[in-house]
Amino acid sequence: MVRCRGDPVFAEGLGVNSTAAKHGLAAGEHGAPERSDWTVDQGWHAYTPKQHAVWKTLFERQTQLLEGLACDAFVQGMKKLPMSADQIPDFAALSEVLHQSTGWQVVAVPGLVPDDVFFDHLAHRRFPAGNFIRAADSLDYLEEPDVFHDVFGHVPMLMHPVMADFIQAYGKGGLRAQQLGFLKELARVYWYTVEFGLVRQAEGLRIYGAGIASSYSESRFSLHSDSPNRIAFDLARVLRTDYRIDDFQEVYFVLNSLDDLLALAQTDFAPLYEGLAHGTHYTTGDVLPQDTLLCAGTGNYHRERRRAQL
Ligand SMILES: [Fe+2]
Repeated sequence: MVRCRGDPVFAEGLGVNSTAAKHGLAAGEHGAPERSDWTVDQGWHAYTPKQHAVWKTLFERQTQLLEGLACDAFVQGMKKLPMSADQIPDFAALSEVLHQSTGWQVVAVPGLVPDDVFFDHLAHRRFPAGNFIRAADSLDYLEEPDVFHDVFGHVPMLMHPVMADFIQAYGKGGLRAQQLGFLKELARVYWYTVEFGLVRQAEGLRIYGAGIASSYSESRFSLHSDSPNRIAFDLARVLRTDYRIDDFQEVYFVLNSLDDLLALAQTDFAPLYEGLAHGTHYTTGDVLPQDTLLCAGTGNYHRERRRAQL
C-alpha cells in the first residue's frame, strides 16, 4: 500500500482498525533487517503467556462476532488451518497446511516493509505477517499490522484458490504499477477487496476483507450500520476512489461472488492506468449516477464525525 508514515491513525477507543492501511509502507522505524527480503524468524518460543492471552482474547471475541457475518470461504479456511484460541499460531504449521492447499506460505516480518519487498513476497505466494502482537490494554488500537490482523484476518482467505491467485496477481501488478507511477490507484483495488471487501451470498452480504474481519467494531459497522454506501464492485470506479485510513469506510464495494476476483487477477491494468491520469477522482462519500447502489447510506456516522472535528 502507499500510505506514508505519519498518516493519521485513529485514537484509541474508536475501535477502528487502520492497520490494513499500512501494509507495504515505507520501511519501519527499526531499519532494514539482515535479510534482503525483510523476513525474520517468527520467534514463536519467545511469546510470553501474556501475549498468548491477548491472542486468545482477540480470537474468541472475533470468532464469536463473525458468526453470520464472515463469508463461507473465510469460515471454511479458518476451519482447515491450525489456528485456535489456545496460542498464537506457529507460522511454519500454518504454512504447511496453506502450501498444500493453495501454494502460499506465511513469512514473519518485524513490522512495515517497503512496497517493493511487500509486492515481491505476494508475487511469490509468501504472505508477510507481523510477528508481534498488540498490548493487552490496546486491543483495538494499532499502528502497524500485527499477528492478529495479518494471520486471523488474511490467512483464512488465502486458503481460497481464487483469492490465492488474486493476491499473487496483485503482487505482480504492484511491481508494475510502481514502475508506471500508478501505485496509489492500484492500492485502492487491494483496499476495497483484500482489506475491506464485502461479497454477496445467498443469505445476504458477508465480509471477506481482512481489515474488517480482524476489527471488532468495523465487522458490525460494515454490515449493520445504515451509514455507509454499499456499491457493486466496479474496477474502473474503484481505481478512482479514495479510501479512509483513519476511520470506518464510507463506502464498501461488493463482489457478486469471490469468483469475480479471477477476472480481476487476469486483467491488464496498463490500459486502465492511461485513462486515470487526467480523469476524475472520487471522494469516499461520492455516489455516482452509474453506480449500482446496493444500499444507500445515510452518511450520518461520518457527518457526525466531521462535525465533532470542527
Ligand atoms: Fe492487511
